[in-house]
Amino acid sequence: MSALPAAPAGPPAEEPIGVAVVGAGYWGPNLVRNFQGSPSFRLHWLCDLDRSQAERVLGGYSTVAVTDDLAEVLADPRVGAVAVATPAGTHLDVAAAALRAGKHVLVEKPLAATYADGRELAGEADARGLTLMCDHTYCYTPAVLRIRELVRGGDLGEVQFLDSVRINLGLVQRDIDVMWDLAPHDLSILDFVLPDGVRPVAVAAHGADAIGAGRSCVAYLTLRLSNGGLAHIHVNWLSPVKVRTTIIGGSKRTLVWDDLNPAQRLSVFDRGVDVAAPEELGADERQQMLISYRSGDMVAPALPEREALRTMVEEFATAIRSGRPALTDGRSGLRVLAVLEAASRSLAEGGVMIELGEDDR
Ligand SMILES: NC(=O)c1ccc[n+]([C@@H]2O[C@H](COP(=O)([O-])OP(=O)(O)OC[C@H]3O[C@@H](n4cnc5c(N)ncnc54)[C@H](O)[C@@H]3O)[C@@H](O)[C@H]2O)c1
Repeated sequence: MSALPAAPAGPPAEEPIGVAVVGAGYWGPNLVRNFQGSPSFRLHWLCDLDRSQAERVLGGYSTVAVTDDLAEVLADPRVGAVAVATPAGTHLDVAAAALRAGKHVLVEKPLAATYADGRELAGEADARGLTLMCDHTYCYTPAVLRIRELVRGGDLGEVQFLDSVRINLGLVQRDIDVMWDLAPHDLSILDFVLPDGVRPVAVAAHGADAIGAGRSCVAYLTLRLSNGGLAHIHVNWLSPVKVRTTIIGGSKRTLVWDDLNPAQRLSVFDRGVDVAAPEELGADERQQMLISYRSGDMVAPALPEREALRTMVEEFATAIRSGRPALTDGRSGLRVLAVLEAASRSLAEGGVMIELGEDDR
């Protein structure tokens, strides 16, 4: 590790944080738009190896500077923070260079291409006292923020199961399988909403390459949770219908999040199954005698309309200014990578359950 430059003192609350976006492809322009719309930031640079691409994104009248040279961005003392929207394989190089230059860093999901790369970034940020945040965008949607409140606030009771389906006719990626493409969303949401002390402890994955693409296009992940609950994630590039539904079952209530139903994305059901049996009864007697079904109301919580990325960039600013870890900090990005790598191992070993290390929970 090179000599540590002092972490930049957080600017006074009213002064915008100077920021640069690196990567002007599909996703970068969304960051550009949200940084430009945020009073907490002033966008100074858009950097892309393809300079003309960055120029196209900004248009002819922008005062934001364009470059294909990251060093130029990092040498600019006005830049306190760098947002990285380049392909995952480049995250380590770009983000580590920014951290070494003393900049706070926001990295697009996944945090890095491998767990080892992600750990290097997290270590670099910790050593320098800098903010490292991972853009797990879904976590900042009004629906997921509300789910987090409901689950962590105890409204659902003990989490018993989570079932997440993310399927459609998807773009078959050339470098990663469907699990690495889509499951980071579900895994980051799981990481975000689970109460403290409830964590995935093991994962098994099954996948299939039905079209001969050279990688799994359909995958099922099963995660054992530390409280005895189970989570299941189904990701699929081959489904003719699009489904984005997550069900979280608790001992008190169950919620259903249907992201394709804007009129009622969230439904909370006071319905479920109770077993009230004295411990001394045998398993058969318990089943026959004391299972009861609750069939109460369904409530559809009102959700504000707000772009997730706007909330995400404000969280980045708050983390930089306060010095507290971002809600989706480097560690959460790392936990997602740990599950993905274990899931890949499971896939390669025929679907065996792989235990997650203590550090990765
Ligand atoms: N948060 C989300 O929901 C979401 C959605 C889509 C993509 N992403 C993430 O955003 C990142 C970028 O994805 P994309 O689809 O925009 O990719 P892309 O290929 O469309 O764009 C990447 C851009 O980065 C540029 N680039 C590559 N290496 C560079 C380097 N070293 N320095 C400067 N520029 C460089 C390329 O020229 C290209 O313009 C990925 O990590 C991806 O997973 C996140």
